[in-house]
Amino acid sequence: MATKEATNGSNTTNGECKITRPPPTPSPLRFSKFFQANLRILVTGGAGFIGSHLVDKLMENEKNEVIVADNYFTGSKDNLKKWIGHPRFELIRHDVTEPLLVEVDQIYHLACPASPIFYKYNPVKTIKTNVMGTMNMLGLAKRVGARILLTSTSEVYGDPLEHPQTEEYWGNVNPIGVRSCYDEGKRVAETLMFDYHRQHGIEIRIARIFNTYGPRMNIDDGRVVSNFIAQALRGEPLTVQKPGTQTRSFCYVSDMVNGLIKLMEGPSTGPINIGNPGEFTMLELAENVKELINPEIELKMVENTPDDPRQRKPNITKAKEILGWEPKVTLREGLPLMEEDFRQRLAIPKKGAI
Ligand SMILES: NC(=O)c1ccc[n+]([C@@H]2O[C@H](COP(=O)([O-])OP(=O)(O)OC[C@H]3O[C@@H](n4cnc5c(N)ncnc54)[C@H](O)[C@@H]3O)[C@@H](O)[C@H]2O)c1
Repeated sequence: MATKEATNGSNTTNGECKITRPPPTPSPLRFSKFFQANLRILVTGGAGFIGSHLVDKLMENEKNEVIVADNYFTGSKDNLKKWIGHPRFELIRHDVTEPLLVEVDQIYHLACPASPIFYKYNPVKTIKTNVMGTMNMLGLAKRVGARILLTSTSEVYGDPLEHPQTEEYWGNVNPIGVRSCYDEGKRVAETLMFDYHRQHGIEIRIARIFNTYGPRMNIDDGRVVSNFIAQALRGEPLTVQKPGTQTRSFCYVSDMVNGLIKLMEGPSTGPINIGNPGEFTMLELAENVKELINPEIELKMVENTPDDPRQRKPNITKAKEILGWEPKVTLREGLPLMEEDFRQRLAIPKKGAI
């Protein structure tokens, strides 16, 4: 399987994508004897939830030099505080809708608000971030010969008519709805990645990320796991959107980060689904959180938001076969780790703890 999608070679899901030019020459810095690190890596959106965990993992490798570019819209310097001042780390306040000039070998392009509350707050900015931001990062990749990975999303499948979703499925997306700035924005970002790949030979990687959870998620950002945990800790009812039978699959952030790095290092352009196929209804998730944090808490059914997909579950056959990746952390193992982080940030100690 892996050989079918050779590095920078013809792609992928339907065999139609052929590159027409050789890849650009890598940055001369790669070969400089003064260049101490093996790899200089840019992480856009690196101050956010997934980005900051990715930075932690990349920084573990002493051969890596990591540059984060972030406008702090939904991210925070606090997520990176242990690296600020480190000789192999650099943090730049930068909005990806503007061009950026840095000499790098790899670009993990994550910059984009991921929670509906934030991406709907300024939808025009969201689509600009997806389209102009991705063009700017592809322009940079072209100039310096870097490999670029885009964190796309399961939202490109919209309200899917196929279940579970394979990478070949083209999706069922509303182009003019309130979520479209994000869903369609990511779809255009994927298109741009493949156009730069075919036209300019850029080495691309596309990850289609399914719901991810873990420490450092924004509290009160409206995403279901963070919502339930914060509500349970505060002793508030867990607000389950109707009908409660809609499903999601939740991937713990350390699994996600390992998947992204394997994709970047691996042979395939993707798109590749990265997520946990364990599927839960919203009611089941609420019951799990209730049992873990406060069995006395109530569940309250509330109206749903428009275009909320009814079911979401990744088919991860490609990730398994091509990347040798599959998630390891179950929801029952991951939720307590997130509870601990939220308790610290909300200053709500566990009963009986000093
Ligand atoms: N968390 C998930 O469940 C999930 C699911 C699917 C896809 N994704 C994708 O993964 C990526 C990271 O998601 P996350 O959950 O860490 O979200 P996040 O909101 O915590 O992180 C996004 C980061 O991007 C930064 N950012 C936003 N707009 C920017 C801009 N114009 N210029 C520079 N920086 C900007 C934010 O400040 C933040 O630090 C996003 O691309 C998202 O679409 C996440």
